[in-house]
Amino acid sequence: MVTVIGNLKGGSGKSTVTFNLALWLVQAGKTVLAYDLDLQRTLSDVVQVRQEEGYEPPLTVYTDLNLPKHFQYEAVMDVGTGNMALMKRALSLADRVVVPVVPSQADIWSTQRFLYFIASEVRGKPPEISMFINRADTHSSIRESEQAYQALTTLPGVKVLDIRLHQRVVYRRSFSEGLAVFELEPSGKATKEFEKLAKLLYSSSG
Ligand SMILES: Nc1ncnc2c1ncn2[C@@H]1O[C@H](COP(=O)(O)OP(=O)(O)OP(=O)(O)O)[C@@H](O)[C@H]1O
Ligand SMILES: [Mg+2]
Repeated sequence: MVTVIGNLKGGSGKSTVTFNLALWLVQAGKTVLAYDLDLQRTLSDVVQVRQEEGYEPPLTVYTDLNLPKHFQYEAVMDVGTGNMALMKRALSLADRVVVPVVPSQADIWSTQRFLYFIASEVRGKPPEISMFINRADTHSSIRESEQAYQALTTLPGVKVLDIRLHQRVVYRRSFSEGLAVFELEPSGKATKEFEKLAKLLYSSSG
């Protein structure tokens, strides 16, 4: 299956989710192809940190969009707006697009634009689109994430996942240390929520 992790909006967590998801799939025994299709090369940089530190299992990142033909794999692709032609190609190959959304009005607007973009640019079978709230506030008194979640549920043709990744320092450490959140804090809150997300995304793929 080809999963693109995308959004037009910067800083929504695309690279964080791609990196953690790729490692989660590896430890689940899948053959993983991780693609860094963003000119910023954040995914490549974090994987380089992991490699320099010698952490196992290693992860290979591809920056050319070529898909192999003769074996089963899980492809995860981190896309950016720096190369729109490449983003369009990735979206056209995608079985689904996973969209992390930060709970703010600007992010909701931008996410809506991303949906229009997919609808107008993807030729052939449209990918399934799954969204979820990332960087939700950990204070329950702040209602922004709930409001953003509700706003997403009004968007047509979209699956809104009933899981939130909260704003947690360990997601930032994940980048600086080259480790997945479940490697850094195996019994932490981030690990619980991240694993729930990963299982929701991959529950039906054997
Ligand atoms: N749930 C989270 N909690 C705390 N920090 C987070 C979370 N998700 C992402 N971050 C941090 O937010 C910043 C942006 O995340 P990331 O780079 O993954 O987003 P992106 O969508 O790939 O950004 P860009 O559009 O620049 O490629 C990073 O510093 C990352 O560590
Ligand atoms: Mg990124």
